[in-house]
Order: sequence, then structure tokens, then C-alpha cells
Amino acid sequence: MSYSKIVATGSFLPKKKLSNTDLEKIFDTSDEWIRTRTGIEQRHIVEDGQSTSDLAYFAALDAIEKSSYDKNDINLIIVATTTPDKIFPSVACAVQRKLGIKNIPAFDVQAVCSGFIYALTTADSFIKSGMYQKILVIGADCMSTITDYTDRSNAILWGDGAGAIILEASEEPGIIKSIINSNGEYEDLLHVPRKPKDNKPNTIEMQGNAVFKIAVNTLDQIVDETLQGTGFSKGDIDWLVPHQANIRILQATAKKLDMTMDKVIVTINKHGNTSAASIPLALNEGITSGRIKKNEIILMEAFGGGFTWGSSLIKV
Ligand code: COA
Repeated sequence: MSYSKIVATGSFLPKKKLSNTDLEKIFDTSDEWIRTRTGIEQRHIVEDGQSTSDLAYFAALDAIEKSSYDKNDINLIIVATTTPDKIFPSVACAVQRKLGIKNIPAFDVQAVCSGFIYALTTADSFIKSGMYQKILVIGADCMSTITDYTDRSNAILWGDGAGAIILEASEEPGIIKSIINSNGEYEDLLHVPRKPKDNKPNTIEMQGNAVFKIAVNTLDQIVDETLQGTGFSKGDIDWLVPHQANIRILQATAKKLDMTMDKVIVTINKHGNTSAASIPLALNEGITSGRIKKNEIILMEAFGGGFTWGSSLIKV
């Protein structure tokens, strides 16, 4: 049986930054409140004319350049996103066009902030089945395009960016175990409704407090569930690479793992919540900064709208 392994990572962040001080000029808030409640200091925001597929394309190029691959070696593209350029075609097809790769399948996965784990799990399954050998997996979102900048308890959170990995068939794992799960009952706590009649843009509506509690409880359970049956225990995990939603959620998960925060890759201060992009952005940062080293064990976990959640235990 074949396994899958991450052989390269890449990232892209738009140049424009939106700091807490910038937000103080938009609504009644303070840098201190935002830092204390969320851990966020700034976010990157797309320029006019830039779209999710642009970010995804540049992250993909970065990953391809760092690998030993020619782009034409890739035989499947999966993009996790909630903010596609268009209702259709998919961002994955736009990335395929921009990369100039022909005759391979490309599709999007939509699981909001858990999207990257869903896409990774899908890619891992394709490799294990023997159907594909080299898969480009991207998490990319322009959350600023669906943010209501009059809603201060919500607008402080979101940022834009993209992260990419190349997953390759391997004799050894790689991806040790992944979990994906969902519960559609809580739709109204975190969603973007369609509002075709009142001419308003479609923006995120969230009951932050309720989402916070469910996220912490769910991520608490996922740690034990992920480790079960793997032969690994909490103490074997070198790094936690979590979805970056709120520093207090990250701290709660680290506590559950008996981990100190210096073993958690934290990017929320610089990126905010970039939804499907946050885990691959954090993974890329951990690897390129030299903190995460070859053969180390990493737990990646995410929770998001749906609700959806997921985790991956991997050896880099
Ligand atoms: N600046 C200053 N005050 C603010 C504010 C802001 N940006 N946003 C809200 N407040 C105020 C509220 O009006 C409220 O005031 P009141 O007590 O006088 O009524 C007070 O702060 C507390 O509001 P609350 O919404 O309960 O804050 P909170 O501690 O829950 O923090 C979030 C809000 C959004 C930061 C927090 O709930 C959160 O991060 N939730 C998780 C969201 C998430 O991660 N979603 C994505 C999942 S992938």
C-alpha cells in the first residue's frame, strides 16, 4: 500500500496590510481589545482586482519552485476555498489555467476553515488508492471580500492569503492519520447567507461567543481521537500547526496536548484568520523558518463553518 508525504510547501500573502490601528479608524475598537481577545495585530488584504485564484497561483508557484518538480509532473489540483473568484468555474481550474497545465483534473473543496484538512484528506485518499501520485493541494481565501466592516465583533478576525503543498506517493507515511467530520445543525452560528433581493453584499454573520465555545470543545476531543490507534501519544508530537482562528483557541488546544506555546506555530498575529489558507500558511512558515525539521511529528487541526472540523497527524 502506498502512503502520501508532503514534499514541498509554498505561500503567498497580498502586500496590503490592515492593522488594528487602521481598524480603529473604521469602527469603535482598540488595538488592545483586539490583541487581548484574539491575538491579532494585522491582516493582509487583497488589492482591487486581485482574487483568490491569484493568491492560490502564487502559493502554488512557490511550492513548485521549492520542489524538484516540473509543473507538468502534477496530476491533480485540489483547492480548498470559500471565496472563489466566481460561482463557477472553480478556483482550481483557474489555477490550472494560470499554471498552464493541461489534461489533469482540478476541483475545489468547500469546508470553510477546515477546508485545507478536507482537501489534504481527499488528496491522501487518492494517493493511497493509487489513482494519482503527485497532487497540488492549496488553501486560499480572500475573507476580506465577505467581511462586513461595520460589524466590529467580526471584522477584526479575517485576512487574506494562500498556502500550498505538494503531496507525493511514498513508501512510508507522511500522512499518518486524518479525521474529517461535520455537523450541519449549527448553520446559523456562522454563515454567509445569500441576499439576492436587498442588493447587499453577502458577508459573514457569526455568533462569536457560541462559535468559540463549540470550537474549543470540539478541538479538545479531536486530539484524543486523532492519536487513537496510531501508536503515537501526546508526548510524541513535536509541533501543533493549528487553524489560526483565535489565540485563545490555540492556547486551549495546546493545553489539552500538554504543550507549551513555543511548540505551536502561531501566525494569527500577522495573518488573522485566513480560513482555508491558515494551516498551509503556518506549515510553510514553520518549515521555511527552520523551526519544523525533517522527520518531526506534527498535528494539524481545524474547526470552521458548517460546522466542519478535522485533523491530520503527519511526519514531515
Ligand atoms: N472592539 C471593542 N469591543 C468589542 C469589539 C471590538 N472589536 N467587538 C465586540 N466588542 C464588545 C461587545 O460589544 C461586548 O460589549 P458589551 O459587553 O458591552 O456588550 C464585549 O466586547 C464582548 O463581546 P463578545 O462578542 O462577547 O466578545 P468575545 O470575548 O466573545 O470576543 C470574538 C469576540 C469574535 C473575538 C470571539 O467570540 C471569538 O473569537 N469567537 C470565535 C470566532 C471564530 O473563531 N470564528 C471562526 C471559526 S473558524
